[in-house]
Amino acid sequence: MALIPIALERLQRDGLEDPEAQARAWCQRLEAGDILYFPQTPIHFGSHDLAFLLGQQQTGSTLHKNIAYKPNLDTVSGLDASTTSAAELNQLRAVMRQYSQDVTRFLTHFLTPYQGRWQLDYASFRPQEEEGRDLPLRRRNDLLHTDAFPTRPTRGARILRFFNNIHPSRTRDWVVGDPFALLAPLYAPQHIPLPASGNSASRALRSLATAAGLGYAIPSLKRSPYDDFMMRFHNFLKENASFQAECRKEYLRFPPGSSWMVYTDMVPHAVLSGQYALEQTFLVEHQAMVSPETSPLSVLEAMTHSALV
Ligand code: SIN
Ligand code: FE
Repeated sequence: MALIPIALERLQRDGLEDPEAQARAWCQRLEAGDILYFPQTPIHFGSHDLAFLLGQQQTGSTLHKNIAYKPNLDTVSGLDASTTSAAELNQLRAVMRQYSQDVTRFLTHFLTPYQGRWQLDYASFRPQEEEGRDLPLRRRNDLLHTDAFPTRPTRGARILRFFNNIHPSRTRDWVVGDPFALLAPLYAPQHIPLPASGNSASRALRSLATAAGLGYAIPSLKRSPYDDFMMRFHNFLKENASFQAECRKEYLRFPPGSSWMVYTDMVPHAVLSGQYALEQTFLVEHQAMVSPETSPLSVLEAMTHSALV
C-alpha cells in the first residue's frame, strides 16, 4: 500500500503531458491497492454549508451508523427524527446532494477510464466521534475489514470510496493492511470456504429471476457467490482477533481539509478516531478496470477456477 499525494496545483495546471495516460496511471494505482490522497481537497465547500454540517449531532441509537444520502432517490436517512426539523432535514439533503454531485463531477474528469462506468451509490455524513463508538462487532469500523454491503451486493463491481475530513482542526486516523490479493490465500480455503460457482440449477434460477425482473426482490438471488464470499471475508476479518493484532499495519492521519480515495473492497481499513467526514461511494463496473487481474473477483476466480458472478 502506498499513499500517493496529489497536489491541487498539479491538476489545475494544463501542463499534464498526456492526461489520458495520467488518468490510467491513477486508476492503476487505485486498483493496486494504493490510496490517492489530496492534502487539500479538490471539493469546494461553502462556509455556510460547512458550518451547518459541523453543527450537526447524530444522537441516539446505533440503528443508523451514519447519515446516508441516496442520490437516485434524493433522500436522507439516519437522522434522529425526534430532534430534527423539516427545515434541517431539507438543508442537510441539499448539502449532501451538492457534495454527491461535486465529487461525481470531479471524478468524472479525474478518472476518465471509469467515465460512465459506475453506479452512483450512497453518500454518507459521519458526524460522530469514531473513537470508542459502541457498535455491534460486525458493524464496527475501528476493526480492520474490507467492505461488503449486506443488502447491496455488487456482483463483482468494485467499491470505490471518496472521503473528506471536514473537521476544522482534527485529523481522521486510519489504519490499513495488506490488500485482498495477499490476504485471501492466507485464509481461504483453510478458514473461509471459497465460493462455489453454484450448481447449474441455481444459476438457471438466478438468470430466470433476473430476466423476470425479480432478481432484486429475492435477497438470496441477488447475492452472487462472489458477494457471499466478500461478506464472509468482511466478517472473518472483524471477528479474527489474531488477524487484528498481528497483521501488517500502516497508520495514516488525514488532516483537516484533505480528501482521499481507495478501493475499500480490497484494502483492509479501520478508522480509529476522528469526527465529521463526508464520503461518496461508487460501484465501478468490473469491465472498466485498467488492471483487472488484481480485483477481488479475479483473485477469487483464479483461486476457484470458476465464474463467480
Ligand atoms: C469505513 O469505511 O470502514 C469507515 C471509514 C471512515 O469512516 O473513515
Ligand atoms: Fe469500511
